[in-house]
Amino acid sequence: MTSTIPSFHTIEPSDVNQLMPIENACHGAPWSENTFKSCIGGRYFSQYINKDNKAIGFYVGEYVAGEATLMNICVEPSQQGNGFGKVLLLQFLTEAKKQGSSKVFLEVRASNFAAQMLYINQGFTEIDRRIAYYPSVKGFGYEDAIVMQTKL
Ligand SMILES: CC(C)(COP(=O)(O)OP(=O)(O)OC[C@H]1O[C@@H](n2cnc3c(N)ncnc32)[C@H](O)[C@@H]1OP(=O)(O)O)[C@@H](O)C(=O)NCCC(=O)NCCS
Repeated sequence: MTSTIPSFHTIEPSDVNQLMPIENACHGAPWSENTFKSCIGGRYFSQYINKDNKAIGFYVGEYVAGEATLMNICVEPSQQGNGFGKVLLLQFLTEAKKQGSSKVFLEVRASNFAAQMLYINQGFTEIDRRIAYYPSVKGFGYEDAIVMQTKL
């Protein structure tokens, strides 16, 4: 089968149903459907990427007073390592700039090296650490959140 060119779409509340399996597969402590829906509209901006008529990843950003925060980014596990995470991050940065952001922030688990590499390669640097911020995905203890920033 010939693949169609991946396309971006704004996330609407009615899309959350099809995005929840990606969210659940990507995170040890995933957002609930209600949390996801509460991050659509208003100060939030978000898009998903469609490949062959199927959603394979998404990002959710928040814009407040000249600064944007990456709230969530995921790529369906079978599609990871194919460049979609980078495409989503670049799209988020483009939208953040369009909205007027001069700075962008995010938080990432200290153990999440794949995501950290993605961010570092796009110019993010560590500016702070929240010690023992996340419950560990291993089921016991806590792990640090690394706070990263880039300027646009
Ligand atoms: C983080 C995530 C979005 C990356 O998506 P992806 O489609 O796999 O990433 P890409 O294929 O676009 O890779 C982009 C860059 O990320 C880094 N990267 C991706 N996977 C990596 C891995 N397993 N190990 C190290 N670096 C990795 C690399 O720097 C890579 O660039 P390169 O290919 O030029 O070396 C994806 O792994 C994911 O959904 N993870 C689960 C959810 C998550 O952790 N989200 C981030 C929360 S802060």
